[in-house]
Amino acid sequence: MRRLAVLLILSQTSFGLAQNLDATTGLIKGPGLHAVKANCISCHSAQIIRQNRATKETWAEILVWMQEEQELWPLPEETKQTILDYLSTYYGPEKKGRRQALALKPIQSQTPKQEEKQ
Ligand code: HEC
Repeated sequence: MRRLAVLLILSQTSFGLAQNLDATTGLIKGPGLHAVKANCISCHSAQIIRQNRATKETWAEILVWMQEEQELWPLPEETKQTILDYLSTYYGPEKKGRRQALALKPIQSQTPKQEEKQ
């Protein structure tokens, strides 16, 4: 009986996940999705978002880069925070399932004595 219950929970979980995707964009439904749909998918598809994983800080950098280089319009601070919360919650760094990104360092900082700056 217990095993059956576990199976039921598992299947409901994956069923739930499929249901939690926005039908038009494939983005995960959640608070902030509206702001992302309003601001982030007019130049490129949502796929470019879905295939990225980043911390809030890195998402913030991506947004700044997009504003400086790709003509993303200025966003009100509140909207920006809503978007960053959404992105870092649903498209944050993955804890498992994929290998970690390679930590690339400049060659000179690989000598043992030098301290890491970050
Ligand atoms: C005004 C147009 C525009 C808007 C609006 C826009 N982007 Fe982009 N974005 C671009 C362009 C152009 C590129 C591709 C640049 C390239 O790779 O040459 C891009 C690339 C990206 C990338 C890929 C970055 C990488 O590392 O290759 C991500 C992620 C992204 N956008 C997320 C977003 C998010 C999140 C928003 C909403 C806050 C957004 N974009 C809104 C123009 C836009």
